[in-house]
Amino acid sequence: MSRAYAGKNIVVGVTGSIAAFKVAGWVSTLAKAEAQVSVVMTSAAQKFVTPLTFSSLSGTQTHTGMFDNESDEWMAHINLGREADLVIIAPASAETIARLAHGMSSDLLSTTVLATRAPIYICPAMNTRMFEHPATRENIAKLAGYGYQVIEPGVGMMACKEEGQGRLPEWEDVDEIFQRALTVHDLAGKKILVTAGPTREPIDPARFLSNRSSGKMGFSLAKAAFRRGAEVTLVAGPANLSTPVGVQRVNVQTAREMHDAVMKYADAADIVIKSAAVADYRAKSVYGEKVKKEKIGESLELERNPDILLELGKRKKKGQLLIGFAAESTRLEEEGKRKLEAKNLDMIAVNNINSDSTGFEVDSNQLLLITHESSEKLPFASKDRTADLLLNKVLELMQ
Ligand code: CTP
Repeated sequence: MSRAYAGKNIVVGVTGSIAAFKVAGWVSTLAKAEAQVSVVMTSAAQKFVTPLTFSSLSGTQTHTGMFDNESDEWMAHINLGREADLVIIAPASAETIARLAHGMSSDLLSTTVLATRAPIYICPAMNTRMFEHPATRENIAKLAGYGYQVIEPGVGMMACKEEGQGRLPEWEDVDEIFQRALTVHDLAGKKILVTAGPTREPIDPARFLSNRSSGKMGFSLAKAAFRRGAEVTLVAGPANLSTPVGVQRVNVQTAREMHDAVMKYADAADIVIKSAAVADYRAKSVYGEKVKKEKIGESLELERNPDILLELGKRKKKGQLLIGFAAESTRLEEEGKRKLEAKNLDMIAVNNINSDSTGFEVDSNQLLLITHESSEKLPFASKDRTADLLLNKVLELMQ
């Protein structure tokens, strides 16, 4: 579970749409991630789901009225807005969107929105024709003009049995957006190029040379860098992973394709992180048709692929940071130091591939980070956490 939500005050405004029941799941997830969730329901929302449902899931009393007589409800609209780190309106009905667009303050949710300085995320969910009506479009444009973030609803079959745009997004689609809103953007303005995954060197249409890299470490780095405000390009070899939100992904197969893609984006990058496991060799002959085993015989003739990182080191611009990876099974520090010097890097992250819980394929890692000044073993952690620890070190190097 990500730590981005822990201890954060999150106001979830639930309004009158059938998708309200889905947001019960969101609130439960946020509470489990240790956020302090305050749910505010409009009266229409309470026709779909009860306040008790949200109180049970959030662990705190759901707020329903501006003038409720419970002691902690006095000035609730100011307090909720003032203390919030993030305000999420989900589902946002056409009615609520219209009222927020006009700055109305007739209920607790609209006053909370007016009174907050926290980022506000609106997740519309309604019938397609209501969503596409010019009045709704105009109101949504107004909200965007106030600086609110409007998350486009999904397309598909809706509760009213009509197909179209208007579905509340799934949690997986909004989770990363909310985490980014709560994260300090200490990499804002930085362009980061990350490479990930293996490369695949074809022999014929059925066979290839490759390695065990899954791409998980590189994808975690791309995700963390975007969350921290960077503009991220991810050059990925064949990896069965979904593209992190907000990241520009360039798919490649071979080392030579990776080389060309990397050279295209490297000059503009402030930071290059080469976590890909590039195949050092490719087959000398590549067959267009599946080749018979008799034809290949006992040995396959190979030729060297370009060393992309070595070339990046040679053409490194002033101020650019170059981070390499090394997959090692013995003499980790020694090999890391050698590659750091040989490839003109600013830092190298050494993976121990001789362990079941670090290196290739698994979700956890323990990197040895070597710079020209220091050598530091990171704690054993998830690849997501490891990515953040590595980026912390990158920030240190930038200063
Ligand atoms: N690398 C690269 N191009 C290659 C081979 C490696 O850019 N053709 C990069 C990797 O992306 C990684 C670093 O070089 O960041 C080290 O990769 P590794 O395979 O550990 O080292 P090699 O330099 O290939 O050395 P060896 O395999 O002999 O240990």
